[in-house]
Amino acid sequence: MPRPELQILVCVNDRGPEATRPCCAAAAGLEVYRRLKELIRERGLKERVLVTRTGCLRHCSRGVTVAAWPANHWYGGVLPEDAEALLAAEEAGGELERRRMPPGPWE
Ligand code: FES
Repeated sequence: MPRPELQILVCVNDRGPEATRPCCAAAAGLEVYRRLKELIRERGLKERVLVTRTGCLRHCSRGVTVAAWPANHWYGGVLPEDAEALLAAEEAGGELERRRMPPGPWE
């Protein structure tokens, strides 16, 4: 695989059912990841776009947390149904405004 032009990180951190802190797994992190991977496959973007599942990206109460590089765009509250619009916005060099990470401290 050549060096990707775009990398999308999706937090899938799972603190388990007993956790008192929120986590992206409980907010459909894996579903967001899988939908993005599906879109990459369907659109033949495997050579250009790398989607990676990660541990905690430090915005747990605003998950699902997604970050896109090299633009350094951060998203919160991402749902599986946002994946298509998010990918399209990033591919076009923009941001998905409705899911932009709100200002707030890193957790
Ligand atoms: S658990 Fe996803 S940002 Fe912390």
